[in-house]
Amino acid sequence: MIANELRKAYIDFFIERGHAEIPSASLVPENDPSVLFTTAGMHPLVPFLKGEPHPSGTRLVNVQKCLRTGDIDGVGDDTHLTFFEMLGNWSLGDYFKQEAIQYSFDFLTTKLGVPTDRLAISVFAGDADAPFDQESYDRWIACGIAPERIAKLGKEDNWWPAGGKNPGPQGPDTEMFYWTGAEPVPKTFDPSDKQWVEIWNDVFMEFDRQTDGTFAPLSQKNVDTGMGLERTTAVLQGKTSVYDTERFTPIIHAIEETSQTAYVTHKRSMRIIADHVRTSVMLVSDGVHPSNKDQGYILRRLIRRAVRQLHQLNDREHGIGSVVDACIETLEPSYPVLQQRQSEIQEVIAHEVAAFEKTLTKGLRAFDKLFASSGYVGGEEAFTLFSTYGFPLELTEELVREKGMGVDKEVFVAQFQKHQDISRSGSEKKFAGGLADHSDESKKLHTATHLLHQALKMVLGDHVAQKGSNITQERLRFDFSHDAKMTDDEKREVEKIVNEQIQKKLPVSFKVLSVDEAKKKNAIGLFEDTYAHIGGKVKVYTIGDAKRGVFSREICGGPHVENTGDLQAFALTKEEASSAGIRRIKAVVGDSARKALSIKNR
Ligand code: ALA
Repeated sequence: MIANELRKAYIDFFIERGHAEIPSASLVPENDPSVLFTTAGMHPLVPFLKGEPHPSGTRLVNVQKCLRTGDIDGVGDDTHLTFFEMLGNWSLGDYFKQEAIQYSFDFLTTKLGVPTDRLAISVFAGDADAPFDQESYDRWIACGIAPERIAKLGKEDNWWPAGGKNPGPQGPDTEMFYWTGAEPVPKTFDPSDKQWVEIWNDVFMEFDRQTDGTFAPLSQKNVDTGMGLERTTAVLQGKTSVYDTERFTPIIHAIEETSQTAYVTHKRSMRIIADHVRTSVMLVSDGVHPSNKDQGYILRRLIRRAVRQLHQLNDREHGIGSVVDACIETLEPSYPVLQQRQSEIQEVIAHEVAAFEKTLTKGLRAFDKLFASSGYVGGEEAFTLFSTYGFPLELTEELVREKGMGVDKEVFVAQFQKHQDISRSGSEKKFAGGLADHSDESKKLHTATHLLHQALKMVLGDHVAQKGSNITQERLRFDFSHDAKMTDDEKREVEKIVNEQIQKKLPVSFKVLSVDEAKKKNAIGLFEDTYAHIGGKVKVYTIGDAKRGVFSREICGGPHVENTGDLQAFALTKEEASSAGIRRIKAVVGDSARKALSIKNR
């Protein structure tokens, strides 16, 4: 089933059940200055969820254009998109849980032909604010879903908006998952198994969270549902990626053509271009123009990121025009306005591309000048080019490489962080950030970060370098350069290496060395880390000793635990893209790590 068929089947199904089709609202919310974009179908319906009568009645259905910028760093993987379309049906004080769940089940099994056995469900487990959603649970059982296939989860998973932390209409939800794996469907539903893909969410909105945090009942009980069109289309077609459906392949082909490169070798770049141009097209058609604030700023960033990716594919010929056409062609059947405004959309985007090219030209000139005067462009200069001209670091790197030299990226990153610290928190907070927390937990996580850094270099290669680090009481976060998703084997190997060092109970010590000595000893880490400098020298932490071997040597301000045994255990909890060419890992130690490892090894 292609996306347009799914759209039509959905709308028809709910019209047959007494729903009125309403048009999609604009991507730019009309009466809500608190958010930049429409992120869900219920968004434009808030006044009606609160009791105002809707002119089309109490049963509504539509396809809503949505934009979620929170997902921007995930774009390039299989499932994340900034712009997407949401199929939704609503009851405004009309039907409630029984009918809503029955409609969902019937649509999935009879109209989409999904076998009941490929489905799993989650329902709200209950907490101090609201009880376990017994009614939804019972209804799913009555539909024929096995009890082992129904998970009971808390507010982070089964409440919408997730977590229930903001004021406004909300409530528990029940989500439907589809088994995408090649192996037989597991008997029991494990919500952490990514092969179960969420395709639909039925929200039962009966609360209105007040600004003081209390939950008042809404004047009516509503149903709000949402099904991601692109994702469900991919799942039904047995595709692992939304980018492999007919909604995207013509766009990818246009990019292949203009760049004369193949999708198979440049998947990530091409997906980013496809997503960003598609979203830009939709934004311009809703009247947004590139600017330095609000929606216009997001549009500007999307276009510029797309241009950068095109450059990386060696397409400097402004091939974006053909990509814009391909986006319009794939979306035009649902949004005829795109064709009417095609030339305007083309112009707005071309204008922004030209402005960006000018920025790049200015930056190039400044680069040449810098290079001519000092014969060198280092991390600091690269940062100046970035902060003054908006000249991207990767470009400086390319140019320096053309001259047969390298940019010390770590210097750039250090400058960048310093700059961010200064602009973010002013001088008094400058020293409070990062390492101010000297609790035992943070010391353990800090030492774990060094073990992780070294293990990543051993498993993935020497190109791994720290790009950022953040430690809370609960977990560490580590950003590093590497341009592919880590495989499960790689993750297991990293975990194993770190745990071995913990079991060896290695001593952790530091010495203050000159920068040269530190370099000679192959210490890793940020040489410009201001916290590590003591009177022109640097503090170097060593894990291990002469007897049992040195595992890691890293420049760092500390503090650390005295023995790796204090960490007890180490587990990765997340590995994801942070930005282009940079991965982000989250990890835990101690009891949380033991628990995570025992679940993984089950
Ligand atoms: N508003 C709900 C969601 O976005 C349906 O998941």
